[in-house]
Amino acid sequence: MMQPFLFVTDLDNTLIGDEKALEKLNATLQSYRDQYGTKIVYATGRSWFLYQQLFQEQPMLTPDALISSVGTELYFDLQQGEIDQDWVNLLSQNWERSKLVKLILDEFPELTPQSNSEQGEFKISFHLAEETAEQTITKLKQRLAETNLDVKLIYSSGQDLDIIPKQADKGLAVQFLQQKWNMNDSQTVVCGDSGNDIALFSTGTPYGILVGNAQPELRQWYQRYQTPYRYLAHENYAAGILEGLAYFQFINAFNLNSTENH
Ligand code: GLC
Ligand code: MG
Repeated sequence: MMQPFLFVTDLDNTLIGDEKALEKLNATLQSYRDQYGTKIVYATGRSWFLYQQLFQEQPMLTPDALISSVGTELYFDLQQGEIDQDWVNLLSQNWERSKLVKLILDEFPELTPQSNSEQGEFKISFHLAEETAEQTITKLKQRLAETNLDVKLIYSSGQDLDIIPKQADKGLAVQFLQQKWNMNDSQTVVCGDSGNDIALFSTGTPYGILVGNAQPELRQWYQRYQTPYRYLAHENYAAGILEGLAYFQFINAFNLNSTENH
């Protein structure tokens, strides 16, 4: 008898990227959800707004929960798009948004704000070129420490810098769900491709699947902290996820082979 598991995946360049493979993965996940009560969760850097756009364009299953905006927003009700208030209350503590914005606009012209839709109550996001990233982030960390602004900086895909509360990120949001649904790390598998997914892999000890097309910042981290419960797939995108799920025996490899010819 298979046990239910908690399946968590990033969207851009992890779940999304190969539509054929995505459809295969969807069919597998849907059957595990129907038969065993597997939970499907998306954990994305996108805002609710950009998530909706992707959902219209791609053949995606409706998840049991959505972690959006790099773990700063949580939704259970995907119809209404109503934000989870318990999560909001947790993140509100010690978060001084306007002070942060002012410091950056005054002192860091190299940080260019992302579009309005990607600025959240608990997320301030910028574009930052890879060549100057390390230097800028070091300087920013220093200024934040001097001004007692205790926040988290997350750099992804050699281009995006997110500033979020200490209490937030994708991994901490997954822990919140584990508690709610009474599931532990050995029943949890997380999938990702870039920097903002490191928190998914490194919060607790869930099983982890890095898709074959993972970004250098995530690969480097993986090489450095290798453990048997993390797997770097050979295949890309959803095909890499299927490969990893079979590797950890969350799904029968048999299911995989029987749908493999396309
Ligand atoms: C998504 C979001 C963006 C964020 C990036 C990395 O692209 O739209 O705001 O910076 O993910 O987390
Ligand atoms: Mg991604």
